Amino acid sequence: MSDSLQQRILDAIQNPKNVGEMQNADSVGTVGSADCGDMLRMWVKFREDDAGRKVIDRATFQTFGCETAIAVASVATELIAGKTIEEALSMSGQELAAPLGALPPMKIHCAQLVEGALRSALTPGASAENAPSPALAAPGGVATDGAAKGATLLESFAAPAAPGRKVKVALKPQP
Ligand code: FES
Repeated sequence: MSDSLQQRILDAIQNPKNVGEMQNADSVGTVGSADCGDMLRMWVKFREDDAGRKVIDRATFQTFGCETAIAVASVATELIAGKTIEEALSMSGQELAAPLGALPPMKIHCAQLVEGALRSALTPGASAENAPSPALAAPGGVATDGAAKGATLLESFAAPAAPGRKVKVALKPQP
Protein backbone atom coordinates (compact mmCIF):
# COMPACT_ATOMS: atom_id res chain seq x y z
CA MET A 1 0.00 0.00 0.00
CA SER A 2 1.39 3.40 -0.94
CA ASP A 3 2.37 5.86 1.76
CA SER A 4 -0.15 8.41 0.47
CA LEU A 5 -3.01 5.90 0.51
CA GLN A 6 -1.99 4.73 3.96
CA GLN A 7 -1.97 8.33 5.15
CA ARG A 8 -5.43 9.04 3.70
CA ILE A 9 -6.77 5.93 5.43
CA LEU A 10 -5.18 6.96 8.71
CA ASP A 11 -6.63 10.45 8.33
CA ALA A 12 -10.09 8.99 7.68
CA ILE A 13 -10.07 6.64 10.66
CA GLN A 14 -8.79 9.30 13.02
CA ASN A 15 -12.01 11.19 12.46
CA PRO A 16 -14.46 8.76 10.86
CA LYS A 17 -17.73 10.25 9.68
CA ASN A 18 -21.21 8.85 10.19
CA VAL A 19 -20.32 6.13 12.69
CA GLY A 20 -23.05 4.49 14.72
CA GLU A 21 -26.57 3.17 14.47
CA MET A 22 -29.26 5.49 13.17
CA GLN A 23 -32.33 5.68 15.35
CA ASN A 24 -34.81 6.54 12.60
CA ALA A 25 -33.32 4.72 9.65
CA ASP A 26 -35.55 3.78 6.73
CA SER A 27 -33.48 0.75 5.84
CA VAL A 28 -30.46 -1.19 6.97
CA GLY A 29 -28.13 -3.71 5.42
CA THR A 30 -25.57 -6.04 6.91
CA VAL A 31 -22.95 -8.08 5.13
CA GLY A 32 -20.00 -10.22 6.02
CA SER A 33 -16.87 -10.71 4.02
CA ALA A 34 -16.04 -14.24 3.03
CA ASP A 35 -12.46 -13.08 2.52
CA CYS A 36 -11.70 -11.99 6.04
CA GLY A 37 -14.75 -12.59 8.23
CA ASP A 38 -15.29 -8.90 8.89
CA MET A 39 -18.80 -7.45 8.98
CA LEU A 40 -20.36 -4.11 8.26
CA ARG A 41 -23.84 -2.72 8.82
CA MET A 42 -25.16 0.40 7.14
CA TRP A 43 -28.25 2.43 8.02
CA VAL A 44 -29.87 4.70 5.45
CA LYS A 45 -32.35 7.54 5.74
CA PHE A 46 -34.10 8.92 2.67
CA ARG A 47 -35.62 12.28 1.85
CA GLU A 48 -37.26 13.90 -1.13
CA ASP A 49 -35.12 16.41 -2.98
CA ASP A 50 -36.27 19.62 -4.65
CA ALA A 51 -36.99 17.71 -7.86
CA GLY A 52 -39.22 15.26 -6.02
CA ARG A 53 -36.70 12.46 -6.25
CA LYS A 54 -36.17 10.02 -3.40
CA VAL A 55 -32.56 10.51 -2.41
CA ILE A 56 -30.29 9.39 0.40
CA ASP A 57 -30.45 11.94 3.18
CA ARG A 58 -27.72 10.32 5.24
CA ALA A 59 -26.13 6.98 5.98
CA THR A 60 -24.29 5.66 9.00
CA PHE A 61 -22.32 2.50 9.67
CA GLN A 62 -20.86 0.18 12.23
CA THR A 63 -18.27 -2.44 11.44
CA PHE A 64 -16.11 -5.18 12.75
CA GLY A 65 -13.69 -4.44 10.00
CA CYS A 66 -10.20 -3.32 9.24
CA GLU A 67 -8.94 0.24 8.98
CA THR A 68 -9.56 0.27 5.25
CA ALA A 69 -13.19 -0.79 5.67
CA ILE A 70 -13.72 1.94 8.26
CA ALA A 71 -12.09 4.54 6.03
CA VAL A 72 -14.07 3.46 2.97
CA ALA A 73 -17.36 3.43 4.89
CA SER A 74 -16.58 6.88 6.23
CA VAL A 75 -15.95 8.44 2.83
CA ALA A 76 -18.71 6.41 1.15
CA THR A 77 -21.40 7.59 3.55
CA GLU A 78 -20.43 11.15 2.68
CA LEU A 79 -20.25 10.38 -1.03
CA ILE A 80 -23.74 8.89 -1.33
CA ALA A 81 -25.60 11.67 0.48
CA GLY A 82 -27.97 13.31 -2.01
CA LYS A 83 -27.79 10.47 -4.51
CA THR A 84 -30.80 8.52 -5.70
CA ILE A 85 -30.98 4.84 -4.94
CA GLU A 86 -30.15 4.06 -8.55
CA GLU A 87 -27.15 6.37 -8.53
CA ALA A 88 -25.82 4.85 -5.32
CA LEU A 89 -26.43 1.30 -6.52
CA SER A 90 -24.44 2.04 -9.67
CA MET A 91 -21.32 2.74 -7.63
CA SER A 92 -18.70 0.05 -7.25
CA GLY A 93 -16.62 -0.47 -4.15
CA GLN A 94 -13.73 1.25 -5.88
CA GLU A 95 -15.92 4.24 -6.67
CA LEU A 96 -17.14 4.40 -3.08
CA ALA A 97 -13.49 4.39 -1.98
CA ALA A 98 -12.41 6.93 -4.61
CA PRO A 99 -11.73 9.78 -2.15
CA LEU A 100 -9.04 7.59 -0.61
CA GLY A 101 -7.44 6.72 -3.94
CA ALA A 102 -7.02 3.39 -5.70
CA LEU A 103 -6.93 0.45 -3.31
CA PRO A 104 -4.39 -2.35 -3.77
CA PRO A 105 -5.87 -5.72 -4.84
CA MET A 106 -5.58 -7.15 -1.33
CA LYS A 107 -7.82 -4.35 0.00
CA ILE A 108 -10.50 -4.30 -2.67
CA HIS A 109 -12.69 -6.68 -0.69
CA CYS A 110 -12.73 -4.10 2.14
CA ALA A 111 -14.46 -1.64 -0.19
CA GLN A 112 -16.71 -4.43 -1.43
CA LEU A 113 -17.83 -4.96 2.15
CA VAL A 114 -19.08 -1.36 2.18
CA GLU A 115 -20.62 -1.77 -1.27
CA GLY A 116 -22.40 -4.93 -0.14
CA ALA A 117 -23.88 -3.34 2.96
CA LEU A 118 -25.04 -0.36 0.91
CA ARG A 119 -26.63 -2.63 -1.70
CA SER A 120 -28.35 -4.61 1.02
CA ALA A 121 -29.77 -1.43 2.54
CA LEU A 122 -30.84 0.03 -0.81
CA THR A 123 -32.57 -3.00 -2.25
CA PRO A 124 -35.99 -3.19 -0.61
CA GLY A 125 -37.61 -6.55 -0.86
CA ALA A 126 -34.42 -8.29 -1.83
CA SER A 127 -34.22 -9.66 1.65
CA ALA A 128 -36.21 -9.53 4.83
CA GLU A 129 -33.04 -8.17 6.34
CA ASN A 130 -33.67 -4.81 4.67
CA ALA A 131 -36.84 -3.96 6.48
CA PRO A 132 -36.51 -2.27 9.82
CA SER A 133 -38.08 -4.38 12.51
CA PRO A 134 -41.07 -2.59 14.09
CA ALA A 135 -40.16 -4.06 17.44
CA LEU A 136 -36.67 -2.67 17.24
CA ALA A 137 -37.73 0.65 15.75
CA ALA A 138 -39.60 1.54 18.90
CA PRO A 139 -38.52 4.59 20.86
CA GLY A 140 -35.22 3.86 22.48
CA GLY A 141 -34.57 1.13 19.99
CA VAL A 142 -33.23 1.34 16.50
CA ALA A 143 -34.31 0.35 13.09
CA THR A 144 -32.32 -2.67 12.23
CA ASP A 145 -32.41 -5.63 9.94
CA GLY A 146 -33.81 -9.05 10.47
CA ALA A 147 -30.37 -10.34 11.23
CA ALA A 148 -30.13 -8.21 14.31
CA LYS A 149 -31.52 -8.82 17.73
CA GLY A 150 -29.91 -5.81 19.31
CA ALA A 151 -29.56 -2.14 18.51
CA THR A 152 -25.93 -2.35 17.54
CA LEU A 153 -23.83 -4.64 15.46
CA LEU A 154 -22.11 -5.85 18.61
CA GLU A 155 -25.41 -6.55 20.37
CA SER A 156 -26.74 -8.42 17.37
CA PHE A 157 -23.78 -10.75 17.57
CA ALA A 158 -24.20 -11.22 21.29
CA ALA A 159 -27.86 -12.12 20.86
CA PRO A 160 -28.83 -15.71 20.16
CA ALA A 161 -29.64 -16.35 16.54
CA ALA A 162 -33.26 -16.74 15.59
CA PRO A 163 -34.22 -20.13 14.19
CA GLY A 164 -33.32 -20.25 10.53
CA ARG A 165 -31.53 -16.91 10.70
CA LYS A 166 -28.58 -16.53 8.45
CA VAL A 167 -26.10 -13.73 8.10
CA LYS A 168 -26.23 -12.37 4.62
CA VAL A 169 -22.92 -12.72 2.83
CA ALA A 170 -22.36 -10.69 -0.29
CA LEU A 171 -19.84 -12.10 -2.66
CA LYS A 172 -18.68 -10.28 -5.72
CA PRO A 173 -16.05 -11.52 -8.10
CA GLN A 174 -13.13 -9.19 -8.49
CA PRO A 175 -12.68 -7.77 -11.98
FE1 FES B 1 -11.65 -7.44 6.37
FE2 FES B 1 -10.61 -5.22 5.32
S1 FES B 1 -9.54 -7.02 5.97
S2 FES B 1 -12.67 -5.71 5.60
